[in-house]
Amino acid sequence: MDKETIYILAIESSCDDTSAAILSNKKVLSNVVATQKIHEEYGGVVPELASRAHQQNIVPVVHQALLKANIDKKQLSAIAFTRGPGLMGSLLVGTSFAKSLALGLKIPLIEVNHMQAHILAHFIEDELKCAPSFPFLGMTISGGHTQIVLVRDYFDIKILGESLDDAVGEAFDKSAKILGLPYPGGPLIDKYAQLGNPKKFTFTKPKVDGLNFSFSGLKTGILYFIQRESKKNSNFISENLNDICASIQYTIIQILMEKIKKATLQTGVKQIAIGGGVSANSGIRKELKIASKKYGWTTYIPDFQYCTDNAAMIGIVGYFKYMRNDFSKQHISAKARYVIGTKG
Ligand code: KG4
Ligand code: ZN
Repeated sequence: MDKETIYILAIESSCDDTSAAILSNKKVLSNVVATQKIHEEYGGVVPELASRAHQQNIVPVVHQALLKANIDKKQLSAIAFTRGPGLMGSLLVGTSFAKSLALGLKIPLIEVNHMQAHILAHFIEDELKCAPSFPFLGMTISGGHTQIVLVRDYFDIKILGESLDDAVGEAFDKSAKILGLPYPGGPLIDKYAQLGNPKKFTFTKPKVDGLNFSFSGLKTGILYFIQRESKKNSNFISENLNDICASIQYTIIQILMEKIKKATLQTGVKQIAIGGGVSANSGIRKELKIASKKYGWTTYIPDFQYCTDNAAMIGIVGYFKYMRNDFSKQHISAKARYVIGTKG
């Protein structure tokens, strides 16, 4: 075995994806994700069911990650795991598993903040893409989070703004639910939006100071609008689905773009790195391209598999922490509310 190579097993279990990855330094050898389908029939993540599914998935997922990477447990240098933020029951499964395995193998344990991992996913070594240089703005847009941060170094990340209520992915999913679309509705809104007129219907954008976000008012506005129009015409949704989706998506994208623009003006930083499941949205990708040309921004979006929740991003933070000898003690526990930059 090459002495210079660090092999990290990373585990992610913060929400409804059970994931394990093996990294060889900054390269991903395997990244296995078991998405829990059970939540679809409930129209959202049910925490109790998520913990149970993690219990069932974790051993086969880790086993598969090792097999795919062609790595034996004895070759591992350390185990990294998501400590938080996330659902407590879900986090406990990954945390307990990581602690036990590290203890059994007598190798270091490394705790990772999930939000830091979304940002540092940009540093996963990928021959086709280059990573942003410091400083850059990071924007994580997912089903659980909406956050803009200033990244001065791998471990110097400052929160500039975040959602005060629903996450942007929730705004997509809850709007979709109002329209009778299945969970998660974000990708479907995106699909129908591409066929519709984004200016057909107007929704009120929330007024939120600084770089913070709010999406719950928008959701309520959409609900009342649909109820009102459906009373007049019971086929309103089916007759206007594409235009409704396009208008909802347009409003959400405008909210995001306004805040990004504000962040670039406030910080003078023009490198923008996006992550999280919502970065798959075709409308936001298009708008970012247009704005980059217009304002001279450089934008970075990782491979989709590293945008949504995955263990490879936990592994890359694990690697940087390993290089700093930043290891965790065995008595560490999961942390449901875990802000970037806090310790202990
Ligand atoms: O990062 P992710 O996989 O999991 C969380 O940590 O939440 O993000 C999932 C979220 C869901 O809300 C889903 O509807 C949204 O990302 N999403 C999209 C698209 N693809 C996924 N939202 C809008 N357009 C898409 N194309
Ligand atoms: Zn996430």
